[in-house]
Amino acid sequence: MSPTSLSDLKRKDLFQTKGYINAEWVSAKSGKTFDVLDPATLKHLATVPEMGAADTALAVEAAHEAFKEYKKTTARQRARMLRKWNDLVLENIDDLALILTLENGKTLTEAKGEVTYAASFLEWFAGEAERTHGEVVPVANPNQRILTFKQPVGVAACLAPWNFPIAMITRKAGAALGAGCTTVWKPAGETPLSCLAQAVLAEEAGFPKGAINIVTTLDLVSEVGKELCTNKLVKKVSFTGSTRVGKILAEQCAGSVKKLTMELGGNSPLIVFDDAKIDTAVEACILAKLRNSGQTCVTANRILVQSKIYEEFADALTKKIKELKVGKGTEEGVFIGPLTHERAVDKAMTHINDAKKHGGQVILGGAPLEKMGGYFLQPTIIKNMNSQMLTTREEIFAPVVGLYKFETEEEAIDMANDCDVGLGAFIMTESIPRSWRVTEALEVGMVGVNLGLLSACESPFGGVKESGYGREGGRQGIQEYMAVKSMLINVAN
Ligand code: SIN
Repeated sequence: MSPTSLSDLKRKDLFQTKGYINAEWVSAKSGKTFDVLDPATLKHLATVPEMGAADTALAVEAAHEAFKEYKKTTARQRARMLRKWNDLVLENIDDLALILTLENGKTLTEAKGEVTYAASFLEWFAGEAERTHGEVVPVANPNQRILTFKQPVGVAACLAPWNFPIAMITRKAGAALGAGCTTVWKPAGETPLSCLAQAVLAEEAGFPKGAINIVTTLDLVSEVGKELCTNKLVKKVSFTGSTRVGKILAEQCAGSVKKLTMELGGNSPLIVFDDAKIDTAVEACILAKLRNSGQTCVTANRILVQSKIYEEFADALTKKIKELKVGKGTEEGVFIGPLTHERAVDKAMTHINDAKKHGGQVILGGAPLEKMGGYFLQPTIIKNMNSQMLTTREEIFAPVVGLYKFETEEEAIDMANDCDVGLGAFIMTESIPRSWRVTEALEVGMVGVNLGLLSACESPFGGVKESGYGREGGRQGIQEYMAVKSMLINVAN
């Protein structure tokens, strides 16, 4: 039988409900707390500290002190700790997945997928830590020699979202700690428990006191964010979240000219050309659109389908989606869990009603599932989407599939690029030349061809336009936490 509650955890110590500063589990200085709820049942899961600017400053101070010694560790030592952490995450996959499902709502199968994905960043950055080479530069002046090397930037703030609370923390902190930075983590208020469990395992893996600090907050999130962005001891901020908040943080960071990685909102098109295999396109669309109940920043927000196969694709997709079970993430056979956030169902309904007002035709779902007790929405498909609709400009973040029609390749590219953001895109085609042409023309950071998942630790993740800058994962991920230093030597005497 699948586990259903926190009492089913094998390792009870993975359930932590305090902040974590300088290797101590701590309450907020103010004594304030907030509650974490299960979005599938709205039942209380935990009460955690509502930390504010003063707590954050302490966490930064602890990370700053720890950096003085941690920066002297060798890459090999850091790689060993990351590998041990990776092993511990995988050993405890059942417990971590259960905590994740309970606080986020995603199914246990997806949660295990996320835990595996999270661990993969630790293994990847263990390798990368040892490959942050500098170079010897050919010189113009024969009396000189020039070389470069890389050094950790200092304290890194890792601000993680609620949709992937474990994987986004290891994608950031794995890179930072591998580079030799110490860290302050700020998990989302909806999902702090997954993050706190990671601190237990990281400590067990050998990371020293102060290398990892965690500030939990819900209502004081702007205050905490501001402290992290304006505190001069913080040298790097990595944020995954909305473009709106990203702009505020970037402005705050400007005062001390901090290094930034911004992985912000998307509005990914999934383009189905008439030469695509329908089965492959349907499978990719379900994954790209419905993973985590539609709550991924790279989710296929706009499905563009070439007119010749529009009806056939819509019918095949509807048939498949009708078969998917909606329910609690802990229930067997469930494919679509609840939405995580209490405002998410209302937001999705705003999109659905707006589409209807502008001529959209709802062919499946279209309403909340209130009787189920949590934040559930019927998987929804809307045909006849057009450029006037809200969904054309804004992420839905829910299991709502909007089908747009196009005639030519040029039109599809224009439609795809007609937005302010550019994170991911998916194209479905059996033509290799077309896959090249369209990939090159799309204004995004990542393109998936005949697949619905852009996530792999070895592939750089990030966007262009208002989707942000910097890359996480890949060879690039660790460089974001390092500064290049050049050394010029006089060899004449
Ligand atoms: C995200 O939605 O922010 C990340 C998704 C991923 O890495 O797969």
